[in-house]
Amino acid sequence: MINIGWIGCGRHARQMLLPQLGRNGIRIAALCDRDPEMLSRTAAEYGVAALHSDFRDLIATPGLDAIGMAVGPELHRAATIAALEKGLPVFMEKPPAATAEGAREVAAAAEKAGKPVIVGFMKRYSTGNRIAKNVLDDGSFGPVLGITGAYMTAPTYFEGEPDYTGFYLHHCVHYMDLIPWFAGGDFGDMTVRSISPAPGRLLLHLNFTTGAGVIGNVVMGTVQSRGTPMEEIRIMGDHARIHVDNIIDVALYRDPPFKAEDPGATLDPACDTLSWRPNFTAAANEDHKGYAALLADAAAVLRGGARPVPDIGDGVRAMERLERMVAQIGI
Ligand SMILES: NC(=O)c1ccc[n+]([C@@H]2O[C@H](COP(=O)([O-])OP(=O)(O)OC[C@H]3O[C@@H](n4cnc5c(N)ncnc54)[C@H](O)[C@@H]3O)[C@@H](O)[C@H]2O)c1
Repeated sequence: MINIGWIGCGRHARQMLLPQLGRNGIRIAALCDRDPEMLSRTAAEYGVAALHSDFRDLIATPGLDAIGMAVGPELHRAATIAALEKGLPVFMEKPPAATAEGAREVAAAAEKAGKPVIVGFMKRYSTGNRIAKNVLDDGSFGPVLGITGAYMTAPTYFEGEPDYTGFYLHHCVHYMDLIPWFAGGDFGDMTVRSISPAPGRLLLHLNFTTGAGVIGNVVMGTVQSRGTPMEEIRIMGDHARIHVDNIIDVALYRDPPFKAEDPGATLDPACDTLSWRPNFTAAANEDHKGYAALLADAAAVLRGGARPVPDIGDGVRAMERLERMVAQIGI
């Protein structure tokens, strides 16, 4: 077991992240939240005695091996830099900072400390997205030609907001990481179009190229109910196409013959469509959203191992793409 000091006992940490730590060999040794109610409830759930309202006091707790956090953009930057200055590796939720410049400061601090900073881009670990990426990487799909991705959310959090900072930082940042990850390269040219039918309601289309010539379109917005499927990925190759719907429905289309005039028509594993969807009745890890898989890798890295986790370099690039996108929206 290693000892972690955790900052932020809010909804996301308590529901999705903290339950993953013990099963991955991490003991919660100290907790921090400025809300005494959230702090004491979480402390009771995990039997933690070292409690702090200030993140600096938490980081100073003797005997810690790592720091974890799910708080918010500016505190992610400040607390991660403070942890690195103490020589501690960090897992942080996204976004890594409120600005790309802030993320670059974290990257510089990580470089100086020689310690890893893992950023919670769990979309890479969502089961359907992982299957799609592994198919792309195994060589049979051929070059990616185009990608369309849609990431929608509801106006709930943004109702009446004159700016969409929260939407950009907490939501759009996911696809500023995921789509270039699928494309295998950074955005080159980028054009953004947007409409806003009412305050808090925004729909934007971002089209892009990459250095390798991939073309694509990312659709994001706050104009759908969160009670509906929110995500959709389409990856186009030459006579090959992967669909990932709502991260759990995967289909790989290839180059099958017509069937209607073939009396012997059958399903050929070499060319007909392959599909996957999870069995939610399995009494096993069913976190297809990716938090469990991300935190298993993060725990290994915090213990000194090597895993291909999204890190602060990925965080910097996602924030830089986000700022390029926002600069074109102009709302
Ligand atoms: N990857 C995902 O799917 C996902 C989902 C939800 C949230 N998140 C991220 O997790 C972070 C937290 O989100 P949430 O929904 O849990 O928010 P939240 O508001 O429920 O929780 C944040 C907690 O941090 C505490 N806090 C705030 N400022 C503090 C400070 N200065 N010192 C100590 N404690 C402080 C608050 O009291 C609160 O308990 C955000 O960055 C969000 O983007 C990620």
